[in-house]
Amino acid sequence: MNPRSQSVLIFIIAFLLFIDSSYTAKDVNIVKRIIPQLLKVKKVGEHKMILEVEWDGTGIKNNEKVITKLHGCTPDGNLSFRRYKKKHKFSDRNTTYELAVHKKKVSVQCLLEFTGDLQTNVTFGFRT
Ligand SMILES: *[C@@H]1O[C@H](CO)[C@@H](O)[C@H](O)[C@H]1NC(C)=O
Ligand SMILES: *[C@@H]1O[C@H](CO)[C@@H](O)[C@H](O)[C@H]1NC(C)=O
Ligand SMILES: *[C@@H]1O[C@H](CO)[C@@H](O)[C@H](O)[C@H]1NC(C)=O
Repeated sequence: MNPRSQSVLIFIIAFLLFIDSSYTAKDVNIVKRIIPQLLKVKKVGEHKMILEVEWDGTGIKNNEKVITKLHGCTPDGNLSFRRYKKKHKFSDRNTTYELAVHKKKVSVQCLLEFTGDLQTNVTFGFRT
């Protein structure tokens, strides 16, 4: 190998190392965070409502698990729902809960939790 092609080779290796290290530095700087978006509550029947939760996030891969847990609403007893825990992939971007309304025209406050690695809580209110 002559000195010229050797220096080209060194340059290429140095360049590859540079790309490699700049990539790692960037990865470390990304804060992994789930960002709850819209919470929509729709009346879909006389005693039925649908809660729709959307999410966005930073530094989260599409196939990572997103688990939501609806803790319930206060005052107690005016609403119920069957499955309180929902498992999704981040790329699903939303989930829904079916709510059975036992008493109408009541203002309620509910707590939704994002569990696992992507912890965050959301409280929201609406009228049944
Ligand atoms: C429903 O909400 C009301 C407040 O509007 C509260 O007084 C009541 O205890 C709640 N539960 C039931 C089962 O009605
Ligand atoms: C909600 O999820 C469904 C199915 O997973 C998808 O088709 C729809 O586009 C999503 N809606 C929003 C607003 O992201
Ligand atoms: C969210 O709420 C639940 C239930 O009250 C609690 O156990 C959890 O620590 C809360 N998480 C955060 C991040 O505040």
